[in-house]
Amino acid sequence: MEKTMNVVELFAGVGGFRLGLEKANKELFKTVWANQWEPSKKVQHAYECYSSNFTEGIASNENITLVPDSTFQNLNIDLLVGGFPCQDYSVARSLSKEEGIKGKKGVLFWDIKRIIENSHPKYVLLENVDRLLKSPSKQRGRDFAVMLATFRDLQYTVEWRVINAAEYGQAQRRRRVFIFAYKDNLDYSTEQQQFSMDQVLYEKGFFAETFPVEHEPYKNRRATVTLPSDIVDISDEFSFEFHHAGIMRNGEVHTIHTIPNSKPAITLGEILENEVDEKYYLTEAQIEKFAYLRGPKKIERTSADGHKYVFSEGGMSPVDDLNLPGRTMLTSEASVNRSTHVVEVDGRKRFLTPVECERLNSFPDNWTANIPERMRYFTMGNALVVNLIRDMAKTIEKIEAREHVSKTQLEFDLIK
Ligand SMILES: C[S@@+](CC[C@H](N)C(=O)[O-])C[C@H]1O[C@@H](n2cnc3c(N)ncnc32)[C@H](O)[C@@H]1O
Repeated sequence: MEKTMNVVELFAGVGGFRLGLEKANKELFKTVWANQWEPSKKVQHAYECYSSNFTEGIASNENITLVPDSTFQNLNIDLLVGGFPCQDYSVARSLSKEEGIKGKKGVLFWDIKRIIENSHPKYVLLENVDRLLKSPSKQRGRDFAVMLATFRDLQYTVEWRVINAAEYGQAQRRRRVFIFAYKDNLDYSTEQQQFSMDQVLYEKGFFAETFPVEHEPYKNRRATVTLPSDIVDISDEFSFEFHHAGIMRNGEVHTIHTIPNSKPAITLGEILENEVDEKYYLTEAQIEKFAYLRGPKKIERTSADGHKYVFSEGGMSPVDDLNLPGRTMLTSEASVNRSTHVVEVDGRKRFLTPVECERLNSFPDNWTANIPERMRYFTMGNALVVNLIRDMAKTIEKIEAREHVSKTQLEFDLIK
C-alpha cells in the first residue's frame, strides 16, 4: 500500500503550506482538514480562494477557537502545519485547581496546543514573524520560551530557524521564523539525540539539512539555557535572547546566530511580467506621493501626552532595484504607502501586478484570480514563500521514509 501522510493545515490563508507540501510530493502529503477564517469579515476571500483551488479533504471556514476537540480526535494527523499570529503568550495559574494554567483568551497558539493534545501529530511545522523570538519588548524571549515549554510538556523536541527566503534562492527578502517540532518517541528523535546540539544546528538537524549554514556562529553569538520546569515561572520572570537558530530538547535550549550558506536569489527583474495593463502605471500625483513617502523626512509631531518630538526617517531609493530580490511584501501592498513596491520599466514607474506578487511568494500565476484585486495583494502579504515549504517538505519526506522503514523492520522482527 502506498504510504500517505495526513496533514491538517491551520490558519490556511490561500494555502501556501499545502501548495509547498504538494509541490514536494502530492501523493504523500494529503491535507485531510484545513481551517481558514478571517475574523469579523462577512465575505471570506482567502477561504473562497482556498476552497476553489483545493477540492480534496475538508476546508472549514470557522473560527478555530470554536472548533470542538472531537473534530481533531477523529483525525489521524501525521503533520500539523500553520502560520499563526504573534500574540501575548503569557500564562497564569487559575484560581480553580481543575482549570490549571490559563493563557489569555483569543490567543491562537493555545488552539494549536489544544489540537496537538487531541491528535498527537508526529510533526508540527509552524511559521511566524521573527519578532516572536524577542517578544514582548519588556521581557524579551518570554513568549517563545512559553511556547518551547509547552512543547516540552507535550513531549516534543523543537528546532527553529529564521529564514530569509532570498538567501535560499527565492525572489523575496522575506524573513520569517519556522518552527519544527517532532515527538520525542520517534526513531528520528532517538537518531537526533546521538548528535550534540551544535551538530544538529550546523549539520544534522531538520533545518541544517534543508537550509545549509556555515559551521560557525555569527559574531560568536550562541547561548545555552535550561527552561524553568514551571511554565508560570517562565511567564512571570524568564527572559532570554534567542538567536536565529536553535533547538529545545527535554527543556535544554541551545541557540546560535547561524550564517546562511546562501544560494543565488531570483531578482525582482526576473519575475516581472512583460505585458502589463495601463492601470498599473503610476499617475503624476502618485509619482509625487511616492517621491515624498520614500524620501528622507524630519517632521515635528506631538505625542498623546502633549510632548513635542521630531519624527525622522531616512530616504529609500525612489524605485525598487530590479537586480535584487523584492523587499518583504506586506498586506498593504495594494495601497500607496512607503513599503509598497514601485518598479521602473522602460522609463515608466508602476505598481507590481497581482501575478508578480504571487511570483514573489512562488505561488502559481493567478492562484488568487477568483477574488477581488485588493484582496489578491492582501492575501499575498499574509502568505509565505511556497518554495521554502517545498524544501522543508522534502526533508520531512526523508525523515518519514526512515521512520517507515524502521517500523516495517520492527513488524518484521516481531513476526520472526
Ligand atoms: C499569516 S496568515 C497565514 C497565511 C497562509 N500561510 C498562506 O499561505 O496564505 C494567518 C491566517 O489566519 C487566519 N485567522 C486569523 N484568526 C483566525 C481564527 N480565529 N480562526 C481561523 N483562522 C484565523 C487569518 O485570516 C489569516 O488568513
